[in-house]
Amino acid sequence: MPRLPSRLPRASTLLLLVVLLLGFVLGAVWLMAAQHHAEASRDALQKLQQQSSRVAHLDSLLVHLLDAESGVRGFILTGDPVHLAPYRDGAGDIEIALAALRAERWPDASQRDTVEQLARRVETRWALLARAIERSASPEAGGDAESGQQITQDIRSFVETLRTQTMDQINTTILSSFDNLRDARRTNTVLGMGVLALLATIIVLLYRQDRLSDQLGALLQSENERLQSLVEVRTAALSNLATYLTNAREAEKESLARELHDELGSLLTAAKMDAAWIVRKLPGEAIAPLRERFDRLLDTLSQIISIKRRVVANLRPPLLSDLGLVEALRSLAQPGTGEEDGGRITLDLPDTLPDLPAPVSLALYRIAQEALTNIRRHAQATQVRLSLAEEADRIVLKVEDNGTGFNPAVRQPMRHGLTGITHRVQMLAGQLDIDSRPGGGTRIVARIPLAAAER
Ligand SMILES: Nc1ncnc2c1ncn2[C@@H]1O[C@H](COP(=O)(O)OP(=O)(O)OP(=O)(O)O)[C@@H](O)[C@H]1O
Ligand SMILES: [Mg+2]
Repeated sequence: MPRLPSRLPRASTLLLLVVLLLGFVLGAVWLMAAQHHAEASRDALQKLQQQSSRVAHLDSLLVHLLDAESGVRGFILTGDPVHLAPYRDGAGDIEIALAALRAERWPDASQRDTVEQLARRVETRWALLARAIERSASPEAGGDAESGQQITQDIRSFVETLRTQTMDQINTTILSSFDNLRDARRTNTVLGMGVLALLATIIVLLYRQDRLSDQLGALLQSENERLQSLVEVRTAALSNLATYLTNAREAEKESLARELHDELGSLLTAAKMDAAWIVRKLPGEAIAPLRERFDRLLDTLSQIISIKRRVVANLRPPLLSDLGLVEALRSLAQPGTGEEDGGRITLDLPDTLPDLPAPVSLALYRIAQEALTNIRRHAQATQVRLSLAEEADRIVLKVEDNGTGFNPAVRQPMRHGLTGITHRVQMLAGQLDIDSRPGGGTRIVARIPLAAAER
């Protein structure tokens, strides 16, 4: 017999759990990596924004300063105040640009120094421009213009330095962003492939588990069928054996009853008649001393004959073969048949019945006998009813009582009465209903098809 696994292999379930756990960990790592790369990109963008705004401020500073210088130069040359517009308008923008450059968080101290120097230079240059406007008509204006050019040159070179450094930083930021992007792509590829591999593993494992459970189901099914057919074969064998034993028992009873009735009965009757004859034939004076002994002998012989009758009656229902089932059932309910409370039994028997074969009559008689015996032994009933009727194409025997009742679903081991009833009904292809519950009386109904009865 194949050994059946009681469930799917533990290793496979364990592996599936491990793979799921791995998938969970991989997913979490992927999420964290994506978060990290997104934050790095945002930082890089913020940095780029700051660096571009630095460049813009530097450019704006230089443009406004150069514009103002050209304007002042134009004013000095022409005396036309319209040229002073860039100088007047540029002051505010330059101030804003300087304030913004000072407020910037420059990455190293030298740059902050350069910004300070640049600011001072711009302020100086602005003051020189103001003085040049005032002295626009005087001859010393030329000296100022020379040192002004030097300062402008310094400013240009500071702006250039800061701008170049900032552009370098911008380049570095862009390069590191590219690196970050490349990293992100590599991480995504590796983790994505890992997740795909895990998914594929899970699919394979689930498919294998599915197939295994199918195989297990099929195995269980075939094993069930095998056991079922084994049970059927064994039940049929047991049922055949029970039938054989029931018939053999009845046949043995019948043969024993016949022997007792025919052989022993005639011998006893002959012995009794001989003893009576001897008593009659002996002269009075000869019998007188033996009288008492002879009377006892006759009495003993009568007792033996009545015991024999009772034994025969128990072995073979006396009236069944002679008067039929109805009279035999009636005799079961009468006092003197061993039923000390037979008077309580109500009979409902038909006047006539179709001819029933001897085994059927015997089976119905035995069922009624066992049911009544059970009532006497277990039921403590005050009312008992025994009925027999012909219904449609069936003979129906009912035995009812209002006694203690019992639970028919609970069959007690080593009790054979009800099992015997069930088997006798099965032998005749009939139907048996045992209707009982604790405290609610008992009703046993056996329905035997007439077709079976006539077989
Ligand atoms: N009419 C009844 N009222 C109450 N209990 C009953 C009745 N008939 C059967 N039982 C219960 O059912 C049990 C089984 O009955 P069954 O005839 O199979 O065995 P039994 O009478 O105990 O022994 P035996 O094998 O000698 O017949 C009884 O022990 C009894 O508890
Ligand atoms: Mg019994």
